[in-house]
Amino acid sequence: MSELLRFENFSLTFKTLYGEVRALRNVSFSINTDEIVALVGETGCGKTVTGLSIVGLLPENARTSGKIFFKGTEVTPNTAKRMRGKEVAIIFQDPTSSLNPLYKIEQQLMDVLKNKQNVSQRELKSKVLELLKQVQLFDTDRVSRAYPHELSGGMRQRVMIAMALACEPSLLIADEPTTALDVTVQRQILYLIWELKQKKGFSVLFITHDLGIVSQLADRVIVMYAGSVVEMAPKRELFLNTMHPYTLGLLSCVLDPRRRKLPKPIPGSLPSLEQLTAGCAFYDRCGEALSMCQNHTPELIEVRPGHYVSCHRWREKCG
Ligand SMILES: Nc1ncnc2c1ncn2[C@@H]1O[C@H](COP(=O)(O)OP(=O)(O)OP(=O)(O)O)[C@@H](O)[C@H]1O
Ligand SMILES: [Mg+2]
Repeated sequence: MSELLRFENFSLTFKTLYGEVRALRNVSFSINTDEIVALVGETGCGKTVTGLSIVGLLPENARTSGKIFFKGTEVTPNTAKRMRGKEVAIIFQDPTSSLNPLYKIEQQLMDVLKNKQNVSQRELKSKVLELLKQVQLFDTDRVSRAYPHELSGGMRQRVMIAMALACEPSLLIADEPTTALDVTVQRQILYLIWELKQKKGFSVLFITHDLGIVSQLADRVIVMYAGSVVEMAPKRELFLNTMHPYTLGLLSCVLDPRRRKLPKPIPGSLPSLEQLTAGCAFYDRCGEALSMCQNHTPELIEVRPGHYVSCHRWREKCG
């Protein structure tokens, strides 16, 4: 495995009428070739903007510092434009917003394919059918001639995955691609992503707040809180030797139908990203905080091989 993507001290601020929103703060992590990395955290913690930063789709009011490298080259607005839809594909929670309601599926897939290769109309059409089969939409004639609204939510997400495959990406960013689907369809789509990744060998940045999904799909997990990485480790290591109190809180929120009691929620809510001061951002909600946590921001430290945590109390948990 070699390094595919690297964030180096990357920060992102949005300028708004009400002040500066510090959406990402000193984010550093990498994704290797041929691995599935899950990015988890509560709503508003910065998962989507992390994905958008990679493909250069940030809104006008965004200001960034630090660097992102893809295959060793720094990502700039120009390189991001070239990579998007070729080296890197992105799929979102709501496929309807990414599909054009006015065009048939066949046309939309052909447009993506045309970007990548210069082949005849006939070849394009047969490639469309091949792609639909790859995402297990076997009624290919009907699906290719359908408009997006004529398909179910699960089918539309499969079409989005087909579009991503048409790009032959090295990295697939999947931003909560199954949140809007029912549980059985969710599992089918997850399995499809996993299977295609095995076959094609691309890497996946899987954005989710569902730790159940993480436990099944991911090789490595990055936990984000208020725009910072608070813990990062290979999946097994993270679940067996959880160190950050926030990760522990997330784990105890997972619903288990065999348990009688409802899981305990993490008290409080995410701090305002406009008013973050020095100190640990999780301080107000942490049951293990020390007085130093209020004023000193903990660094992200590698505490075991491949296991990083930003918590002043890591030594006590390392055993
Ligand atoms: N264009 C913008 N202007 C100002 N603030 C923004 C803008 N886009 C995002 N933000 C803020 O950046 C922060 C991170 O947003 P982001 O969408 O990445 O969260 P998320 O972790 O993906 O949440 P969710 O789980 O709800 O999708 C949020 O506080 C959000 O309000
Ligand atoms: Mg999001």
